[in-house]
Amino acid sequence: ANHKLLLLPGDGIGPEVMGQVEKIVSWFEKQGLGSFSLERGLVGGIAYDTHKAAISEGDMKLAQEADAVLFGAVGGPKWADVPYQHRPEAGLLRLRKDLGLFANLRPAICYPALASASSLKPEVVEGLDILIVRELTGGVYFGEPKEIVTLEDGSKRGVDTQLYTTGEIERICAVAFELARTRRNKVSSAEKHNVMKTGVLWKQTVTALHAKSYKDVELEHVLADNCAMQLVRWPKQYDVIVCDNLFGDILSDVAAMLTGSLGMLPSASLGAEDPATGKRKALYEPVHGSAPDIAGKGLANPIAMIGSFAMALRYSFGAGEAADRLEGAIADVLGAGTRTKDIAAPGANAVSTTEMGDAIVKALEAR
Ligand code: NAI
Ligand code: MG
Repeated sequence: ANHKLLLLPGDGIGPEVMGQVEKIVSWFEKQGLGSFSLERGLVGGIAYDTHKAAISEGDMKLAQEADAVLFGAVGGPKWADVPYQHRPEAGLLRLRKDLGLFANLRPAICYPALASASSLKPEVVEGLDILIVRELTGGVYFGEPKEIVTLEDGSKRGVDTQLYTTGEIERICAVAFELARTRRNKVSSAEKHNVMKTGVLWKQTVTALHAKSYKDVELEHVLADNCAMQLVRWPKQYDVIVCDNLFGDILSDVAAMLTGSLGMLPSASLGAEDPATGKRKALYEPVHGSAPDIAGKGLANPIAMIGSFAMALRYSFGAGEAADRLEGAIADVLGAGTRTKDIAAPGANAVSTTEMGDAIVKALEAR
């Protein structure tokens, strides 16, 4: 199959790390292991400089037509004063909104070679492989009313509103159950039904969906605050964790730090399944930002970006074996001691962004 891939490298280290993905795409093509039609577009500050918008209509159209969008990172001090609606992040928000990306997938994988670099004991994180599925388009970040009101006595009241419909809960939990089936077959649903009505509805809805369509998957309920504690105490008890937007924001950041550097963390955001084609709109991006402090110096770790492409292979292109091979190549390179500066021991030798990319291509070849 010919996979339509849109590359949006963005700003700062975005183009540097995306460059390494391009090498890997070419390698898969040369081996006859995949056929990709690549488009390239602009997003963020560079799009503003070129089109006076954080993403152009033309590039939005390419994103709509793509099987997957690979997104680098946006932003930087250069664009601190651009009009609010054109700020670099607006490009990412527009993509999420227009593509209807309601499911955010954040894996936390601990490569054995890096277990000793975790802030936790190596035995707690070694071999860790969990997936947090976060609802991304609803909940308290978007619910109305959202306002600051001045009261009669002159003091103020801030209001945010947490709203969820059964439909929104069902579709995110269905994604979690489907993914669990391809993994270790367990879903932990995190909410706070003890103090929140949306938590009560969440628990009822996931329970009913499980009984109706996913009895083969193990379902457990966990209070979100307890889940945060358990993630630090013994994270390997989890497989897939599903939760709302706010809890997912926090829990995924907790899980991220179990595994080390920001430069290692990939993510995916998926939309609804098109009933005609069975395909989902999807955007893949590293968790990190544009890292202006190291941009242009060859210091960026490309593994988060490359890992995001591995997720695209798995979730958008149905190429699970290729994804396994790519993730295996990353593990091999780390196992051999190859490190960019962010994951190297203080004072130890480190390789550049392009050297890390080349090492991963070599390791792919050796597999
Ligand atoms: P950041 O993630 O860009 O950087 C935080 C720290 O981690 C920096 O010291 C950076 O050098 C380091 N780092 C990040 N990625 C790395 C990599 N691949 N390899 C080695 N080191 C890495 O977050 P920060 O500094 O808060 O934001 C910088 C800019 O990025 C801002 O303009 C911010 O708005 C934007 N940003 C964009 C995001 C996106 O495009 N999705 C997400 C987060 C921030
Ligand atoms: Mg966050």
